[in-house]
Amino acid sequence: MERLKQAIRERGNVLSNEVLKVDTFLNHQIDVDLMAAVGKEFAQLFKEEGITKVLTIESSGIAPSFMTAADLGTPLIFARKKKSLTMNENVYVSKVYSFTKQETNEITVSKDFINENDTVLILDDFLANGQAALGLINIVKQAGANMAGIGIVIEKSFQDGRNQLEKAGYRVESLARIHSLENGHVTFVDELVTTNR
Ligand code: G4P
Repeated sequence: MERLKQAIRERGNVLSNEVLKVDTFLNHQIDVDLMAAVGKEFAQLFKEEGITKVLTIESSGIAPSFMTAADLGTPLIFARKKKSLTMNENVYVSKVYSFTKQETNEITVSKDFINENDTVLILDDFLANGQAALGLINIVKQAGANMAGIGIVIEKSFQDGRNQLEKAGYRVESLARIHSLENGHVTFVDELVTTNR
């Protein structure tokens, strides 16, 4: 998605060879107009899948997922990283290990909101090692619902996430795929020049 790639180039900040900061439009301040365009793109990509629910994880997944759900005309559910005061025991629980933070979090979703009649689209802001997406897939499986696929705003293709998800048999659609962040420069997968020699 060209507009997203332009935002990453112009408003992103490469912090290291592994980490891209995008708090100008996605992770802290949210560019609402850009998120609306992101939502349209995901809705277009998955419109044939009969999606009944969009599922993400708090907090940064919520903005792009909200816009996608609005376009698809479905509810949006976000998995919680901390159990809320009003949440009872009627929940699906899944463990998510973060390689970045080296900690395991339990994520929870109320059983009231996903069941075996649902077809679920999982969305997230970043795909790194795929652990968050795998945790969400585990919840969809516990619910006995169908998986439509996984939509990612920014994929770091030099990490193992896509490989993990495709190996597990899921469709992955990423709106921007980053090949490398080396030397402070963002290179996208579709900018790579292939030569036969
Ligand atoms: P994984 O789920 O793909 O395995 O990712 P990982 O554990 O490595 O990532 C942990 C957190 O860091 C996630 O957010 C993820 O979105 C974010 N993240 C990973 N790589 C980058 C990056 O290059 N740039 C930025 N900005 N974020 C990255 P989180 O802790 O759940 O945060 P939030 O959703 O509450 O904002």
